[in-house]
Amino acid sequence: MTLAQMQETAHFIQSRTSLKPQFGIILGTGLGGLIQDIDIQTTIPYEEIPHFPVSTVESHSGKLIFGTLAGKAVVAMQGRFHFYEGYTMQQVTFPVRVMKLLGIERLLVSNAAGGLNPNFQISDLMIISDHINLLPDNPLIGKNIQELGVRFPDMLEAYDSKMIAQATEIAGKLGIRTHQGVYASVSGPNLETPAEYKFLRIIGGDAVGMSTVPEVIVARQMDIPTFAISVITDLCFEGSLKKLTLEEVIASAQKAEPDLVRLMKELVQLY
Ligand code: HPA
Repeated sequence: MTLAQMQETAHFIQSRTSLKPQFGIILGTGLGGLIQDIDIQTTIPYEEIPHFPVSTVESHSGKLIFGTLAGKAVVAMQGRFHFYEGYTMQQVTFPVRVMKLLGIERLLVSNAAGGLNPNFQISDLMIISDHINLLPDNPLIGKNIQELGVRFPDMLEAYDSKMIAQATEIAGKLGIRTHQGVYASVSGPNLETPAEYKFLRIIGGDAVGMSTVPEVIVARQMDIPTFAISVITDLCFEGSLKKLTLEEVIASAQKAEPDLVRLMKELVQLY
């Protein structure tokens, strides 16, 4: 995707809304409920947005939502694009490029993930402190768009340490059970074998999922401080493995969602 396409998309969006978002928000599987707390000014279905991919997964309804959350101007993606759907990494991360051109100062991301850490329980929240990228492709491969960021972006603080500390403090204050941990990203769409779950734990993963990392890489290349959180929807360690359905993932995500929403709202209020 070219810079000209990104600019064209941003201009189209700016012709539909005058809202200048301070935060970009990407919501994960079963976690679209935060939208209910947004005072919505403008909704744009993805299919109306030039150059936007159209989402295909049934559990996602694709819309870009502009409004205020706890008084802060936000743009939220209701429905994200996954690599396993067949989109290129450039397509998966295109909305983040556009959000940058719209002026976001921070990115907030949620996802549903499998728990590798044996201390985790279903519907726990894990604040992502770092990641291990096992995806077979990278959104930054190809000619670098120098206007957006450097060729070899630093990843030492992929997840903003200040927002991690603030979110941890908020969770403590609200009595919400959270962990901090490492998110391992895989392509999917199949879930992992028992040996793969074991491997992911051994290499340092606390949770595993099929999203988030491409968006975070692109955000960090553009110097956007990023906060991401996983909802643990299933347990992936010995003694807890069982067959998993999308319905169960969504049910576990929705159980955790009210706490996640409270946490996100308190976090944006600090900025
Ligand atoms: N593996 C990969 N992705 C996931 C899982 C899992 O166990 N649970 C939710 N997303």
